Order: sequence, then C-alpha cells, then structure tokens
Amino acid sequence: MEKCLAPSILSADFGILKQQLEVIDEAGAQYVHFDVMDGVFVPSISFGLPVLKTIRKYTDRMMDVHLMIADPERYVKDFAEAGADIITVHAEACKHLDATIELIKASGAMAGVAINPATPLSAISHVLEKVDMVLIMTVNPGFGGQSLIPYTLDKVRELSQLLNQKGLKIDIEVDGGINKDTIEDALDAGANIIVAGSAVFNGDISANVETLMEKMR
Ligand code: DX5
Ligand code: ZN
Repeated sequence: MEKCLAPSILSADFGILKQQLEVIDEAGAQYVHFDVMDGVFVPSISFGLPVLKTIRKYTDRMMDVHLMIADPERYVKDFAEAGADIITVHAEACKHLDATIELIKASGAMAGVAINPATPLSAISHVLEKVDMVLIMTVNPGFGGQSLIPYTLDKVRELSQLLNQKGLKIDIEVDGGINKDTIEDALDAGANIIVAGSAVFNGDISANVETLMEKMR
C-alpha cells in the first residue's frame, strides 16, 4: 500500500491556514487530516463545515475528514458536499455502523472506520470488506500533542495480518503521537497513512514534513 502523510491541521496556525496548507502541499504531504470534534464524543470542540468548505478551495490534496462526533450519520452528507474525500467515523459513535458506512459510500466519499485505543478489533471485523480505510487511534481522541499508547500498535499489527488473511487491500491509518521517533514503529506495524499534527506544525513545517516523509521512503 502507498505510504502517505496526513498532516492534522488541528495543530496549524488558523490565522495563516492558507499559507500553511501551501507549505505542507509543497513539501509533498499527500493528505490533509481534518479533525472534527463536537464536545460530546470527545471533550474538545474544534471546527466543522464552514472551515472545510473554505480550505477545500486552497488544496487539491486528499481531504481526510475524521469525525469525532456522536451519531455522525447526521452530518455525512454535509461533509461530503463540503469537500471530504474520505469520511471516517468512530465505531463507538455509531448506533448502526453498517448503515453509516453505506451512507458514506452513497455520499460519494470513501469510507473509513476508526476505533479508540481500548476498543478491540472485533468491533469492526465484520465491516472490513466495506471500508476503504481503518483508523487505529494511537491516543485517546480529543487533543493534539499526546504520547502514543504503545499497545495500540499491537492492534495495527493484528489488523495488518487479518487483512492479509482476508486478501483485503485497504489503508491502515494511525493518528496520535506520531513523530520522528514513533513513525517507524507505526510503519513497521503495518500502518500506511500517517497522521501527524504537532510533529508537523510545531517548528519548521516544511522541514518537519520532509523528515517524516524521508522515514516513509
Ligand atoms: C486527536 C486527533 C489527531 C490529532 C493528532 O484526537 O484525532 O488527529 O490532531 O495530533 P498529534 O499528532 O499532535 O498527536
Ligand atoms: Zn484525527
């Protein structure tokens, strides 16, 4: 599977977001990771549809929308219309996960399913055939800048083996605590879509992207 970097703009400087999108784009990051938080499913509130509509005008990269919201089926269509290329919902947040995945696909976006650190893989094993991507959270969702929880990479390894057994070629994304020191462990475990927020936007953004992309080569 192709390895891609997905900078999380949660850690960007929103006052100069357009310029920062250009910097990550020019440095070669293939995705933009867009974290939506509702203050219910996770403690924080981040940003939503108007921001997505705006930034969609300034980047052609894969818009990877991570919905950390309760009952996400309520907003799937809106996020697809606002420019999401991939919409990822949490298994824990969906009353009818199968139906929500179908809704994402009907909206024209690619479908992702996410699980929190303490959620076992069995929560999503029946829908693997239906999704384009699985997001294994490597921190508890809600905030940038946390440390990776090591046991979550065991789930990445387990998922990678399971997908091989089933002959399924879908992306494995990791999100949370990924930086120049942890990225190799995540890649070794089998992840190929790498989200990084603070490790990209704190300091020299272009150099940070290059450092992470270099490790992915
Ligand atoms: C966490 C979000 C992440 C966050 C990652 O709840 O889903 O995408 O921005 O931030 P870092 O890379 O700083 O851990
Ligand atoms: Zn995220």
